[in-house]
Amino acid sequence: GAPVEVDIGDIPPGGMKVAEWRGKPVWVVRRTPEMIAALQGHDAELADPSSSKDGLSEDLANPARSKNPEWFVAIGICTHLGCSPTVAPQGTANPSLPADWPGGFFCPCHGSTFDGAGRVFKNKPAPTNLEIPPHTFVSASRLRIG
Ligand code: FES
Repeated sequence: GAPVEVDIGDIPPGGMKVAEWRGKPVWVVRRTPEMIAALQGHDAELADPSSSKDGLSEDLANPARSKNPEWFVAIGICTHLGCSPTVAPQGTANPSLPADWPGGFFCPCHGSTFDGAGRVFKNKPAPTNLEIPPHTFVSASRLRIG
């Protein structure tokens, strides 16, 4: 599939856009400083906090799983059986989420939960973290996926 370019200049802090690449939804999330801070402090609850199984390139192999912590780019497909997780910001009222939920994504199909870097929580059906597609920042306001 050909690369896809996305205008990211109009995504407000805390907002997101869904692009399509190779028939898959690709989330582009613009993190706030609070969302970046919330990526820390819950490693012990994650199945693979350092993305050791994800085969990420060096520039993505960090806790934020991103080239620039402000931007999170991921394939929006649950790694369990392919449902679409929903965005669940910090403070989301959902009985399936813990009270100290740091914000992230929730898969309604079988309850897998992912933090704001797409890292799956332990003891959930999804076996691995969300996939990160190849991507490049062409300019401050344009992202190329693929
Ligand atoms: Fe997401 Fe099963 S498809 S938890």
